[in-house]
Amino acid sequence: MNQFAYGKEAENQSNKIRVGVVTSGGDCSGLNSIIYALYKYASQHNIEIIGFKRGQQGIINKDYIILTNNECTPMLLNQSGSILKCGTKGMTKNGKIITPDEANTEIVKTYKELNLSALVFVGGNGSTKILKKIINKANDLNMNFNAIALPKTIDNDVANTDNAIGFDTAIETATREVSDFISTIETHERVGVVEVMGRAAGYIALHVGLATGADAILIPERDYDLNALCEKIQNAYNEKKYALIIVSEAVPFANEAFDVKQSGDMARVQYGGTAKKISNYLKNRGFEAKSLVLGHTQRAGITSVYDRNLAQALAIKCLKLLSNNQKNVLLGISGNEIIATSFDEIKNTSRALTPDDTMIKTAEGLGIYLGDIKE
Ligand code: F6P
Repeated sequence: MNQFAYGKEAENQSNKIRVGVVTSGGDCSGLNSIIYALYKYASQHNIEIIGFKRGQQGIINKDYIILTNNECTPMLLNQSGSILKCGTKGMTKNGKIITPDEANTEIVKTYKELNLSALVFVGGNGSTKILKKIINKANDLNMNFNAIALPKTIDNDVANTDNAIGFDTAIETATREVSDFISTIETHERVGVVEVMGRAAGYIALHVGLATGADAILIPERDYDLNALCEKIQNAYNEKKYALIIVSEAVPFANEAFDVKQSGDMARVQYGGTAKKISNYLKNRGFEAKSLVLGHTQRAGITSVYDRNLAQALAIKCLKLLSNNQKNVLLGISGNEIIATSFDEIKNTSRALTPDDTMIKTAEGLGIYLGDIKE
């Protein structure tokens, strides 16, 4: 057999239990750790892992590889990205655009045709929302379907888990980059404004801001006032001759709205740009300010020990659940425990910072400007 067995070629080659895995949505660190751990467990338990390429697109078009020990080596543990690639674009079947509903039907059909016993669906909150629809579709069609979702995203905004895989590495990477930025900001006695990712949740901004001694952290969960921000920055600057603001990408400048991009029947808000605008505003108010947008490097870096091991723990647990008859669940971590939440119970797939979050309280205690709780 080839190193990888592709598509039809791979069908009916073994009598092992078959489990599919897909890395859906945007990439982050820890995806390859999941793939490695799935393969390691599977290879000892008569399970064959089918890795679908480019997210759901690979399921729809039966574009997959059967994982082997050629690619599933421990080197994967420190490799960001996904060897299976990720797909975030609109869905096509054999090159033809299909609707999200048709895509869901195709996914359920592939599950049956490949005789899968489970599909490990690795995704963020958007992907989890899609998976809920796929599960409903399978129920409507009266077809057998068992997905086990593993939460991953640098945004850390998946509901029903304390942490998502990839967040820890993202904040380590961002913290390193902001620390480098501070060394020049401080030397030139300037104000630095750094924009981080996170979409509608401020976890990255909050954690990175705390870890780098920021004077202000602007998060989408709160409103801020430009005058109050300037006053804070002036006071901080008077004290230490430099100041630092961390702003989350979904925080608007003043009341300006973000553009919305329509792609098929999906509308996506185009976040970003606020760091530059705040920096310009500060310049007009007499500060020497510089802005920095961290961007996609936040999705990579040296995969943290926490992410590697959370990824492996969730991967092992999900294959163990196969023999437990547990169906259509989202795995997560609560304290030190792995928890499984049934998709029937999941109302909202996303979460955001709440006023009683420990790190919000910590930032408040440190006197960091966070703006005001939204009405
Ligand atoms: O959801 C992860 C994330 O990195 C967000 O923080 C960011 O807004 C978005 O994905 C960027 O997506 P894309 O790679 O499609 O620009």
